Amino acid sequence: MISLTKDLLDGDRIKIPKHIAIICDGNGRWAKKKGFPRTFGHKAGTKPIENITRDCSELGVKVLTFYVFSTENWSRSYEEVDFLMKLFVEFFIKLRNEARENIRVKHIGITDNLSSELIDEIKRTEKSTENNSGMILNIALNYGSRSEIINVAKNIMHDIDVGNLNVDKINEDLISNYMFTSGLPDVDLVIRTSGEMRISNFLLWQSAKSKLWFTNDFWPDFNYNHLKEAIKYFNVVDS
Ligand code: IPE
Ligand code: IPE
Ligand code: MG
Repeated sequence: MISLTKDLLDGDRIKIPKHIAIICDGNGRWAKKKGFPRTFGHKAGTKPIENITRDCSELGVKVLTFYVFSTENWSRSYEEVDFLMKLFVEFFIKLRNEARENIRVKHIGITDNLSSELIDEIKRTEKSTENNSGMILNIALNYGSRSEIINVAKNIMHDIDVGNLNVDKINEDLISNYMFTSGLPDVDLVIRTSGEMRISNFLLWQSAKSKLWFTNDFWPDFNYNHLKEAIKYFNVVDS
C-alpha cells in the first residue's frame, strides 16, 4: 500500500478522489484488433476491473464505480448480450469468493430483464459483503441515468402522495438520497477509455461537478499507470 502511494505521490502532496467512476469502453475493438471475437475482449476486460479495484482500495479511494452494461446495451446482438450476462454471473461469484481488502460490493441499475441466476448472484454478493467497512465497489449493470432519475421522480411523488414528504423539503441532498448512490459522495473523477468522449447516460446527477479524464487506450489495456495519470489530472488546480 505504501509503495503504491509513494509511487503516485512523486514527492508531492496529492489528493485522492473520494469517488472514481469508470466507463470501461473498447473491449470489442481491443479484441477485433487482435483478430478475436468481441467476447474475447469482454473476458479480458474483467482483469483490469480486478486490478484497478485493488489499486483504488490501496490508495484509499472511498467509492469506485464501474459502468459495465448500460440500459442501451440490450440492443447488441443476442450472442454478445448472452455472453456478457453469463460473464457477469461468473464475475459476481468471483467478487464474492475473493472479496479482498474488506470491499463492499453494490449493484447500481435495474434488475429488469436480468436472469434470475444473475439477480441471485448479485444479491448474494451484496449480502455477503454488506458488513465490510472498506471501499464501496459499485457495479453499474443495466444502469441508465435517465431511468434512475425517472424512478427518483416517481418515488418522490409517491412519498408526497402518501404524506411522507413535503414539497418544500425537496433540495439537492434529498434528491441525492433517492438515487442508487444514496449516502455516497458525488463522483469526483470520471474516466473513459477507448477515445470516446461521451457520457453515455452515466451518473448524470452524481457527476455534475466531476473532472473527466479520457484515454485512447482500450479498457483491457487499462492499468495502474492510467489510473495514476487520471489522479494527477484530478489534482491539477484550475486557474
Ligand atoms: C465496453 O466495451 C463493454 C460494454 C459496453 C459491455 P464495448 O463492448 O463497448 O467495446 P467497443 O466500444 O465496441 O469496442
Ligand atoms: C457505454 O457503452 C457504456 C459502457 C461502457 C457500459 P457503449 O460502448 O455501447 O457506449 P455508447 O452507447 O456507444 O456511447
Ligand atoms: Mg463501446
